[in-house]
Amino acid sequence: MSFYENRILPYLLEATMSGEEMVALRKATLAEVAGEVLEIGFGTGLNLPHYPAAVSRLTIVDPNEGGLRFVQRRIGAAPFEVKTQVLSGENLPMAAESFDCVVSTFTLCTIPDVTKAMGEIWRVLRANGRFHFVEHGLSNEPQVQKWQHRLTPLQKLVAGGCHLNRNMRELVTAQFAKVEMREGYWQEGGKLAGYLYQGVAQKACYRPFLLSLLLPLLTTLFTLSNLLAFSLSTA
Ligand SMILES: C[S@@+](CC[C@H](N)C(=O)[O-])C[C@H]1O[C@@H](n2cnc3c(N)ncnc32)[C@H](O)[C@@H]1O
Repeated sequence: MSFYENRILPYLLEATMSGEEMVALRKATLAEVAGEVLEIGFGTGLNLPHYPAAVSRLTIVDPNEGGLRFVQRRIGAAPFEVKTQVLSGENLPMAAESFDCVVSTFTLCTIPDVTKAMGEIWRVLRANGRFHFVEHGLSNEPQVQKWQHRLTPLQKLVAGGCHLNRNMRELVTAQFAKVEMREGYWQEGGKLAGYLYQGVAQKACYRPFLLSLLLPLLTTLFTLSNLLAFSLSTA
């Protein structure tokens, strides 16, 4: 982590990511989060005051420990246990199926190997667990997209690796089959960084579906074997 990313960027995040509209977005994204929760990319902990009481324990990870001094100030006010870990979203040490919800707010734009991180998010979620996200990314306007592609190298330099041009819909739907997502501009972000993708993705649980196939089959086999036994005994 460079001096800029570790010492200066956290102050810039605090200043630019805590406006009124941003707070409303955070609250809306976190409203249904519950149980054992993992947040990828804690930044300076700006989400901490907005988690609902239904959260039982929160684990927050980020490879940049520069934001921790801000996080520490906010942890005290949280009504649940908060565990901080300085590590990357691409290589989570947590066991598979250990969280009810995973949260990412404005982080998928920055993770270098974001496809790998999406795989990790899916892996650590329990069956029927939910991924709650709000992310900025590729606009739906071709003219804006052109500038997002052109300016991403500069954005990466000044904003700690942030890409303006990631297609968040493609990223999320490539990993999750069940996704509710809305897209559109938010006012505070401008055209280049203001196209948002917000929603919830669910890790599908196939067990009820398999059971619904297996039960009629087992019932038929049971009835047939009874009929066979009855006809043999009366023969
Ligand atoms: C724009 S900030 C957003 C911070 C916070 N999520 C928020 O909403 O305020 C992007 C965050 O992603 C973090 N990040 C960068 N690379 C990462 C990685 N490989 N895994 C997890 N987080 C990462 C950065 O350190 C930074 O804190």
